[in-house]
Amino acid sequence: MSITYKNNKDLPCDQLSALFAAVGWSDGTKEMTPEMLANFNKPFIHSTLVFSAWDEDKLVGCVRALSDTMFRSAIFDLAVLPGYQKQGIGSELVRKCIAVYPNSEWSLETIPEKVSFYEGLGFEINNSPMLRIPCKWF
Ligand SMILES: CC(C)(COP(=O)(O)OP(=O)(O)OC[C@H]1O[C@@H](n2cnc3c(N)ncnc32)[C@H](O)[C@@H]1OP(=O)(O)O)[C@@H](O)C(=O)NCCC(=O)NCCS
Repeated sequence: MSITYKNNKDLPCDQLSALFAAVGWSDGTKEMTPEMLANFNKPFIHSTLVFSAWDEDKLVGCVRALSDTMFRSAIFDLAVLPGYQKQGIGSELVRKCIAVYPNSEWSLETIPEKVSFYEGLGFEINNSPMLRIPCKWF
């Protein structure tokens, strides 16, 4: 299987929402309003970096990053289709982000089960409190 990596931000909304559904982040329909589905790639278009992985014309992985391009950068929405996981695609997507701003701090939020995956990519747990106002969309 040959995987191609791209860095365009305008990922197709239908394939993107299907990828999110496939990793369990949404079912692609019930929780999604038409407005959300139609704007599914908007967070990607407005991110600093977007990398995607393709098997021919099938979107199989994505990641986006917000960065000030110098000091602080954060990873969001790393996802790889289940049938394509454990082949190095997720790691490669993260590495591609870090390579653009290698001197920046890189941060992300994850679940305990994924901590070792990110530690393998050089991340360390930071015990500083993280404060937030929850997203109103989901
Ligand atoms: C997290 C996620 C993006 C990882 O993507 P991935 O493509 O499977 O990542 P990789 O293949 O680079 O690495 C995953 C594991 O496979 C291993 N691996 C990589 N290439 C491999 C290969 N050729 N053969 C066997 N194992 C391999 C890696 O060592 C890694 O092991 P670890 O989890 O014990 O550290 C993917 O599991 C996913 O989409 N999960 C659901 C969404 C999610 O949780 N995203 C992260 C939110 S913060």
